[in-house]
Amino acid sequence: MEKILVVDDEQSLREVLSIMLKRAGYSVTSATDGEEAIDFVHKEIFDLVITDLRMPKIDGMEVLKAVKSASPETVVLIITAFATADSAVEAMKQGAYDYLTKPFQVDEVQLIIRNALEKRRLTTENMLLKREMASQSSFAQLVGQSEAMQKVFDVVRKVADSKSNVLICGESGTGKELVARAIHYNSARSSHPFVAVNCSAVPETLLESELFGHMKGSFTGAISNKAGLFEIANGGTVFLDEIGDTTPTIQVKLLRVIQEREFRRVGGSQDIKVDVRIVAATNKDLEKAVADGSFREDLYYRLDVIPIRLPPLRMRTGDIPLLVNHFLERFSKESGRPKPVMSTEAMHVLLGHEWRGNVRELENLIERVVAFSAEGPVTDTDVRGWLHRPTTQSPQSAMPLDLTDEGLDLEGLINGIEKDLLLKALERSKWVKKKAARMLRLNTRSFRYRLEKYAIKGGRD
Ligand SMILES: Nc1ncnc2c1ncn2[C@@H]1O[C@H](COP(=O)(O)OP(=O)(O)OP(=O)(O)O)[C@@H](O)[C@H]1O
Ligand SMILES: [Mg+2]
Repeated sequence: MEKILVVDDEQSLREVLSIMLKRAGYSVTSATDGEEAIDFVHKEIFDLVITDLRMPKIDGMEVLKAVKSASPETVVLIITAFATADSAVEAMKQGAYDYLTKPFQVDEVQLIIRNALEKRRLTTENMLLKREMASQSSFAQLVGQSEAMQKVFDVVRKVADSKSNVLICGESGTGKELVARAIHYNSARSSHPFVAVNCSAVPETLLESELFGHMKGSFTGAISNKAGLFEIANGGTVFLDEIGDTTPTIQVKLLRVIQEREFRRVGGSQDIKVDVRIVAATNKDLEKAVADGSFREDLYYRLDVIPIRLPPLRMRTGDIPLLVNHFLERFSKESGRPKPVMSTEAMHVLLGHEWRGNVRELENLIERVVAFSAEGPVTDTDVRGWLHRPTTQSPQSAMPLDLTDEGLDLEGLINGIEKDLLLKALERSKWVKKKAARMLRLNTRSFRYRLEKYAIKGGRD
């Protein structure tokens, strides 16, 4: 039920408005003056405040400012007996939604309120939608034909319409977040928000306020009331990423939301009810964390109602060709470059690679393949070079590799780096070869020789 605060020093008006709004199905609180209103606003969050402008001591303009500073999302309507252009303009500038002049028709007020609340709802939804669309453009579909992945898809389909919480475990880059989104977007909740939060990236106190919201002044920096992600996700799904990194305090609070389906904002005194499905993910061994006492057992069982274990990519090499093709297609479409062809030898290298970064590592590799491949099929030498490409640009880290017992393919590695840098220099110099050669401190002849060696074509002299 939407909450409205009515502020007027005139009793009759206050009563008329209250009765009418209650009848229309709102939860109504009324304040007899500005001071009382500001008090309420600091304690509770209203969807809409309707306030008289002229009141003794604290006037409507002050109430408006206090509301906007305490909770910017609250809609404020101003009532005034004397609609001077100035005061109306000033009120709108301070963030009022609209103003009404006395006397007014009850129908008129009702309509304005309905529209204002509707508009607010749409704005919030729009904002969430935009955010989701931005992240969804990179959210291509889940690919996989291995038995392990087929099982995962099965579970995703089956749980979609249940309310049960899901726990996804797997090494970094195995697709945990993608699976979480798939569960949400295949469920009856898909028209409600999917809200992701990374529990390890945020310090405890901030995480608490991020998840549950806070009231103004509850800690330094809490300059206004703020709704938490659980409130925002109402009706939808909350994705708790890196759940294994949460502290005991957060774990207790999460347990409460899951068990009671309600929580309090930081510094708040009201219980807020929510209906959310929780999908949690971790790359830690939670059972071990439970055993050593760093993760609450009761929380673990509440989350692990439906477990999904994503196997590392090296355990499902059958998915590699499919994923390679999927990413080749995606990146060539995105960059407008032709889709490269992988040689059998190159594919062989990919099948035998360890993939410690799992699908993410493969995705990054293919992005490089599409960006840097020249004419002709991609060779195993190309792939080896790109696989071991230094991740940063600084000269010190240009040789990040350590020689392990497995050994490495020195020539392939050096060739890969060389080709990569040739292409980079060409791109930087807009394919003017002389300039590119200079960037690499090479004379024109040895630069040409290298272009030929790597079959790099095009560009000008
Ligand atoms: N089965 C798959 N099909 C297509 N793309 C995938 C698949 N699995 C993962 N990806 C892609 O790989 C990247 C990593 O996936 P995601 O972010 O879901 O992994 P994660 O398990 O959450 O990793 P981390 O633990 O590091 O957060 C993403 O860009 C995702 O789109
Ligand atoms: Mg992730």
